[in-house]
Amino acid sequence: MIETLTKEIMASQLSQWVQATYWLWPVLEIIHFFGLTLLMGGLIIVDLRMIGFFPTISLQGVKKLLPFVIFGFLLNLITGIFFIYGDPSRYAINIGFQIKLILILLAGCNAAIYHFRVESYVLDLGSSSRRPPLTIKLVGLTSLGLWTAVLLLGRLIPYVGTG
Ligand code: HEM
Repeated sequence: MIETLTKEIMASQLSQWVQATYWLWPVLEIIHFFGLTLLMGGLIIVDLRMIGFFPTISLQGVKKLLPFVIFGFLLNLITGIFFIYGDPSRYAINIGFQIKLILILLAGCNAAIYHFRVESYVLDLGSSSRRPPLTIKLVGLTSLGLWTAVLLLGRLIPYVGTG
């Protein structure tokens, strides 16, 4: 199935355009880096606050960084899809890339838990600087761990084996 998908991607016009446009790859790398800076830069503050650091800053205050985090993720998603179209057969069998995608899915599930189960607690806390309950701490810790692993695996893609 992966083989068929890879062949279909390679035959697409987008794939041929990415491969033939010499300036595109470095531009994509720059945007991918910019995206991950927004994502990680915002998340490190939100997650550390959820874990219990910086108690004088309100949880609702740090939540205002989330639109930047989501924008950074969308930049990574779009440029990441271009990377895949640029060299599908390389990434399809790269173990670092495969684990990275699984971790992104897990981080997405963790974000869904935050949205559906934890966000109401955060709103209940209002703008108070009280220490967060254990559930909030765990969601923050999981998020920080998963996104850090995604970052490291992204950088390791060229160095780890295939398949
Ligand atoms: C959302 C979906 C994402 C996809 C599909 C994706 C895909 C990719 C691919 C295919 C590469 C290899 C590019 C190359 O060979 O030069 C790459 C590189 C990388 N990615 Fe992502 N990525 C995504 C999200 C992220 C996120 C969220 C982070 C950080 C938290 C991240 C961090 C990195 C890093 C550090 C590199 C290495 C760039 C380099 O050193 O050349 N990626 N990504």
